[in-house]
Amino acid sequence: QCDLQGLWRNELGSNMTILALNTAGTFSGSYHTAVAATNKQILMSPLQGAQQHPGTKRYPAFGFTVQWQFSDSITAFVGQCFVDHRGKETLETMWLLREEVLSHKDTWKATRVGTSIFTRIK
Ligand code: BTN
Repeated sequence: QCDLQGLWRNELGSNMTILALNTAGTFSGSYHTAVAATNKQILMSPLQGAQQHPGTKRYPAFGFTVQWQFSDSITAFVGQCFVDHRGKETLETMWLLREEVLSHKDTWKATRVGTSIFTRIK
């Protein structure tokens, strides 16, 4: 079974820590992004998430949000935890980064989307 708890790094060099899941499958942690869309100084930011069917699925689906402490934006990640035949775990995710715009007329440019793969570093 794939375990979300631990220290993970993605292809951008961002690091995140996911703390132990509770019995309901919800979890918290922290995210240190390597890059930003703003010019502000990057700060460690909290994450909150949930995993489906904790303890019963081999490759569980999960989602979490990161509430950036240095920008007005917020990111939602969804993904699945996989384990390969060597026991190597990866989190294969997609994300949406929503920025705050000052008018709904700017909604068209307010959301970025991407994919990200995290590997366990601890
Ligand atoms: C901001 O720029 O307003 C906040 C930081 C956003 C960082 C993004 S979230 C998706 C992508 N994956 C990362 O690890 N960092 C960027």
